[in-house]
Amino acid sequence: MSKTFKIKAIVAISENSVIGKEGDLPWRISEDLRWFKKITLGHTLLMGRKTWESLPGALPGRENWVLSSKLQSHSGIKVFKTLDNALSATIKGNLFIIGGGELYKQALPICEELFVSEVYRTIENGDTFFPSFKDDFEIEEKLFENDEFALNRWIKKTPKMADQ
Ligand SMILES: NC(=O)c1ccc[n+]([C@@H]2O[C@H](COP(=O)([O-])OP(=O)(O)OC[C@H]3O[C@@H](n4cnc5c(N)ncnc54)[C@H](OP(=O)(O)O)[C@@H]3O)[C@@H](O)[C@H]2O)c1
Repeated sequence: MSKTFKIKAIVAISENSVIGKEGDLPWRISEDLRWFKKITLGHTLLMGRKTWESLPGALPGRENWVLSSKLQSHSGIKVFKTLDNALSATIKGNLFIIGGGELYKQALPICEELFVSEVYRTIENGDTFFPSFKDDFEIEEKLFENDEFALNRWIKKTPKMADQ
């Protein structure tokens, strides 16, 4: 049976590819958080255990799935021990990979679409990074821009004939 959902990732990245620092986001940009909610509402979110621990709790209106070898499922979250287990479970809406760095690295090759907020900052001493993606994805839609960040929807490039 072919899958009926899309795998997407959503991320905010600094000019020097930083996404995290000391277990948290290196910024608070409320407009970006509003977009995050708008894009992910009603869907299934998959996150690494460290990202889960950085949140105040389960994000409402969405399925909260966590990858971890040590956590147990409890009210509000469903825990998977492997990425394959999560991908084989019943997914509500689309599956959004929401970080962090470790999970993005593993899931990027299977993502069809990325929502990327490019934050106009350089972060010193960041410790978590987003892998390079611009060779494999292209901008499909510009969603928003202000003086803090630009949000674009990227889709996976289709291979050229010569590559096939
Ligand atoms: N800027 C953004 O958009 C954004 C988004 C999300 C997060 N972040 C930031 O990213 C940082 C966290 O990222 P991180 O890379 O340190 O950690 P992470 O990816 O959030 O979590 C890593 C943990 O997830 C579990 N995990 C990952 N892959 C797994 C697999 N295949 N099977 C089983 N378990 C797996 C493991 O948990 P166990 O050790 O329990 O096994 C691992 O230690 C924080 O600073 C956070 O704020 C930024």
